[in-house]
Amino acid sequence: MDHVAIVTGAGSGIGRAVAVRLAAAGTGVVIFGRRRASLEATAAMMEGEVIIHPGDVRSAEDLNSAITAADSLGGVSILVNNAGIMPIAPMVTSSIDDWRDTLEVNVLGALQTIHSVLPGMRERGRGHIVNISSVAGRNPFPGAAVYSASKSALDAIGAGLRAELAADMKRGGPPIRVTTIAPGAVTTELVQSIRDGDVRAGTAAYYDAMDAPLTPADVADVVMYAIEAPPHVCICDLEIRPTEMIR
Ligand SMILES: NC(=O)c1ccc[n+]([C@@H]2O[C@H](COP(=O)([O-])OP(=O)(O)OC[C@H]3O[C@@H](n4cnc5c(N)ncnc54)[C@H](OP(=O)(O)O)[C@@H]3O)[C@@H](O)[C@H]2O)c1
Repeated sequence: MDHVAIVTGAGSGIGRAVAVRLAAAGTGVVIFGRRRASLEATAAMMEGEVIIHPGDVRSAEDLNSAITAADSLGGVSILVNNAGIMPIAPMVTSSIDDWRDTLEVNVLGALQTIHSVLPGMRERGRGHIVNISSVAGRNPFPGAAVYSASKSALDAIGAGLRAELAADMKRGGPPIRVTTIAPGAVTTELVQSIRDGDVRAGTAAYYDAMDAPLTPADVADVVMYAIEAPPHVCICDLEIRPTEMIR
């Protein structure tokens, strides 16, 4: 097997579409997320070597165990850091718990995942980390201040890590690429992570009002484009929006 990937949040939406595409390209894939039943549904759509590994990105133990499981396929060479939540609400009515959860999953969870895979990538001499950010990180919209902050943090983490790894290469370190992909509106279950009923209904209406929002497969195409680029080419940062999306 040429590559082995771990995809977080692979039980639905973008993560599921990416996992399916990676498997179709001959990559062994560890699919990771909290709900086993959703992961099993993803696995049923995949061909080739698939390991279902339920777990939470906030848990170093869960992630390290998933990385160890991937060793049986040859060790992780691709991380798709996709798990995320969006419990948005205006700051005056938001709870600290929403903010804490957003930062713990979208930022610390992504960092934990990077921390778990980097040593193995360096040891094996190659790697590609793909972080799924959001256009909200570049254009915060009302109600999404903390979600947007979590995504701009992910942008900065990706850019900083990319620079570090490039400097490391100059000292003889291995080529490890870092790609940030920032989608606009994609039809997925993400809206269900909004806890405030009115905000959830308003956000669902925003998606419904679009003629053609992005599909998870549209985003998976872009992820595959970055992954399949020649090893000396790093697709660093890409935005993908529905053509009709204003900002
Ligand atoms: N949909 C959009 O419009 C849009 C736009 C821009 C960016 N994004 C980003 O795209 C990524 C994927 O979201 P999506 O739109 O595909 O929504 P989704 O269908 O809700 O997928 C999110 C996935 O993350 C997993 N997840 C959530 N918390 C987790 C945790 N603590 N540990 C492990 N897995 C966890 C969920 O599975 P479990 O609940 O089973 O854990 C779920 O499968 C997110 O980072 C999101 O911010 C989405």
